[in-house]
Amino acid sequence: MSATINDSSQEILPGERLIDLINRTGTRIPQVCYHPQLGPIETCDTCMVEVDGKLIRACAALATDGMTVLTASPRADAAQREAFDRILGNHLLYCTVCDNNNGNCTVHNTTGLLRVEHQAIPYKPKPYEVDMSNPFYRYDPDQCILCGRCVEACQNLEVNETLSITWENPHPRVVWDGGAPIGESSCVSCGHCVTVCPCNALMEKSMLGEAGYFTSLPKPSLDGMIDVVKGIEPELGDGAILQLSEVEAAMRESRTRRTKTVCTYCGVGCSFDIWTKDRHILKVEPANGPANGVSTCIKGKFGWDYVNSPDRLTKPLIREGNRFREATWDEALSLVARGFSEIKAATGPDSLAFISSSKCTNEESYLMQKLARAVIGTNNMDNCSRYCQAPATTGLFRTVGYGGDSGSISDVERAGLVLIIGSNTAESHPVLATRVKRAHKLHGQKLIVADLRENEMAARADVFLHPRPGTDLVWLSAITRYIFDNGLADQAFIDKWVNNTAEYRKSLDSFTLEMASQRCGLPIETLTRIARMIAEADSVCILWAMGVTQHTMGSDTSTAISNLLLTTGNYMKPGTGAYPLRGHNNVQGASDHGAMPNYFPGYQKVDDPAIRARFEKAWNVSLPPKPGLDNHQMIDAIHDGRLKSMYVFGEEMSLVDSNANYVADALSKLDFFVMQEIFFSETCRFADVILPATPSLEKEGTFTSTERRIQRLYRVFEPLGESRPDWEIIQDIANRLGAGWKYEHPSQIYEEIAPLTPLMAGVTYERLEGYKTLQWPVAEDGSDQPLLYTKEFKFPDGKATFFPVPWSEPSDQQNAQYDLHLNNGRLLEHFHEGNMTYRTEGIREKTPCTFVEISPELASERGIESGRWVELISRYGQVRVQAVVTTRVQGKELYMPMNSVEEPVNRLTSSHTDKVTHTPAYKETSVQLNLLSSIGDNPLPRTNSRFGHPTPQNGVEVERKWKRDDYRQPGDQLVQIQTR
Ligand code: SF4
Ligand code: SF4
Ligand code: SF4
Ligand code: FES
Repeated sequence: MSATINDSSQEILPGERLIDLINRTGTRIPQVCYHPQLGPIETCDTCMVEVDGKLIRACAALATDGMTVLTASPRADAAQREAFDRILGNHLLYCTVCDNNNGNCTVHNTTGLLRVEHQAIPYKPKPYEVDMSNPFYRYDPDQCILCGRCVEACQNLEVNETLSITWENPHPRVVWDGGAPIGESSCVSCGHCVTVCPCNALMEKSMLGEAGYFTSLPKPSLDGMIDVVKGIEPELGDGAILQLSEVEAAMRESRTRRTKTVCTYCGVGCSFDIWTKDRHILKVEPANGPANGVSTCIKGKFGWDYVNSPDRLTKPLIREGNRFREATWDEALSLVARGFSEIKAATGPDSLAFISSSKCTNEESYLMQKLARAVIGTNNMDNCSRYCQAPATTGLFRTVGYGGDSGSISDVERAGLVLIIGSNTAESHPVLATRVKRAHKLHGQKLIVADLRENEMAARADVFLHPRPGTDLVWLSAITRYIFDNGLADQAFIDKWVNNTAEYRKSLDSFTLEMASQRCGLPIETLTRIARMIAEADSVCILWAMGVTQHTMGSDTSTAISNLLLTTGNYMKPGTGAYPLRGHNNVQGASDHGAMPNYFPGYQKVDDPAIRARFEKAWNVSLPPKPGLDNHQMIDAIHDGRLKSMYVFGEEMSLVDSNANYVADALSKLDFFVMQEIFFSETCRFADVILPATPSLEKEGTFTSTERRIQRLYRVFEPLGESRPDWEIIQDIANRLGAGWKYEHPSQIYEEIAPLTPLMAGVTYERLEGYKTLQWPVAEDGSDQPLLYTKEFKFPDGKATFFPVPWSEPSDQQNAQYDLHLNNGRLLEHFHEGNMTYRTEGIREKTPCTFVEISPELASERGIESGRWVELISRYGQVRVQAVVTTRVQGKELYMPMNSVEEPVNRLTSSHTDKVTHTPAYKETSVQLNLLSSIGDNPLPRTNSRFGHPTPQNGVEVERKWKRDDYRQPGDQLVQIQTR
């Protein structure tokens, strides 16, 4: 198919919009409201073109075969100009003193493109104040051109449904929750609206007065300057004024930097440019992130203050009695090398253990495990995937072969049905959740959520099931059996691709619907309904997280999930598969790169002689032949006196490991404990030496996100004070122990990893340049696999395997004394215990502390109101927190977010673990609740987004604008094309 654009014939891509075709040919037309990731909004009318003699909006039309398009005919040009003139009636052009004058302002650039000299419609301010009530961004109605991009982004991309435009008002404006101050609305500060705003109406507060040369002037001076500029404008014309502002914009380039990085919080893997001026972060600017596009959540967009926090560790610290004193690097490193050497000499290499950080880079995890194995001589090496994801990996290893998400986030988005189990996706993986919310809202995707809490995804779901705690394996197995028994299984797929069917089907015998209904507390009708929905959907993705894995049956339940996917043929095609959502930004990468007791990088077994021989040859050492201790076993080994020394970097073990009191007690028994951190964390209290490391913005390397996507991060800032990137510190320690490593850049580390690791064979820094990414496995020629199992499963015969799994009762059951079930997890605003996020003032303001969620039923039974202090006591410890009474939880089930350093929920959790992986059963905790006498304010302040009242609608609803009495289509004979 082809179309003629201004006399030139152009091939049309399938499904291509006319505006995209025009842009692809390099023809420049105005397009103020159009944003490719939002689709047509149709509010600005500036993209008028003449097609076969008629005016149409280029953004709203699909390119069709034989179309003849004139982009600059007199009628199109007049329409474009008229439309843009109306826009300037809503926007004061004071570019030289505007913080958005950075070369990418759509209003500025369109003024230039159309060579506007004088406006016909004069600028008219709107009768509203600037809204500064959100801690991170502000809205200036006087500069708002009513393009509606922000509304579209909030309603249909983020799907928080906060924004709308008051089209019927004489002075339309953007409103939050229909008219609340931003800071008291349902806005979750994800920043989508700010990112897509084409001008300065919505701006990050961190930009204000900082981005421009003149923008820091006091307001009266600034207003005076604007008056001067506006005064000479009639004489000089906009062109001259624009030129002046372009000089100023060019000057800005010399003092601001834009550096690509990857988010350091969750496993979604959002990437963006960070704009900086010296050490000041001007803003986070996502544009075309492979995982996120323009999307972010509050943490990735606004949660970076910790990097410049005044309490960063900037010098090594050495313990002296009960105090720490500052030391030189030389002194600290010598002490570490001496400490490790002496312990190794006295009690052997296996009396030392190493824990790598899931926040740090792949290269750093690789070096840490190399230090443990090749320099010290132990496999006592682990990372925090043990706390969350190891059971999911096991479930996938057992059934399909690779321990990673079977597709990409785009597969989740295109699935016909998404089943979410034990994952608070909207808060723990916010940007990934937006893709599900969008597909569900706009594209008919079905959504089933199984969870103890009615979280946001549950509230949106077509079916929300609330099974009894610890019973997911039962209902999953029962609906799988029902699918088999009723001829709903994908028999052709099973026959061709799955082994062990007979044994598996037999193992399902006991999982009748009646048994599942009784054990799980779910109606049989609900079970049959979801079984049929799953079997009948054209494609199914199952997402799960710690609500599944952090149980004594975490591995088995993960296996049951994969069994269900195999039964229904939901592998091997787009829009299908298993998605265990990785929690930390690089928890996938830490395991991939060998920070595990039983695997070298790429899941190559340490006890396989041939594999070991390859690493021995490459590293020129003898390597220990037996798997080492995992991090759960390490704690027991310290208590037993077998483990004397640990080296931990970037892990807050004493708070995030289960049964925190037991862990803290163990750490205090170590003979020699080395911590490497960016802050003096709780765990640092137990250290003998503390080495100051750098956060991700101060180093280079790669992260691997939940969709197996490997991405490069670049150095934004130089290391603060004397802090140093972790890989440099690990190398220095290794060298003081005689290793002779000579890495000068993380790329050299990857040059060593790739040939040793078939899974990453083709990974090079060149192939990851800028925003380029690779999703493992990566073949030597650089080809990667966004969707796994397109040709076969990862087993010798290429087939998957059903893996039977029995059910047993959860641990730490309730009894008369401990009568309540305590669940725990993350909050949107905070990451984990909050060591990083509490250092962002705006986050602290919105969400200052942890709390315990209590159901209205329990609250009324015990006389508890929000704000009441309560004491929770488990078999392992106790905490004091304030109550929040909410319908998110039911009956005798409590929920406590993990964002607390002072009263961490893990003082209550047990040492029970998943039987296979030793992942702590964090979600199997029973407590008693005692009322304390004091009552305070609700621990969630009224300004928290959870108290807002969203106003869902389908995007910007431009039809309401078109119905206004004062609206007239620009140009003549506009052909209205309905696009929704
Ligand atoms: S939730 Fe708030 S920050 Fe996010 S798009 Fe909506 S209004 Fe903007
Ligand atoms: S605030 Fe919204 S409607 Fe106003 S200019 Fe920005 S994106 Fe457009
Ligand atoms: S925390 Fe996760 S969802 Fe939020 S910006 Fe970072 S990677 Fe994206
Ligand atoms: S770009 Fe705004 S209507 Fe087309």
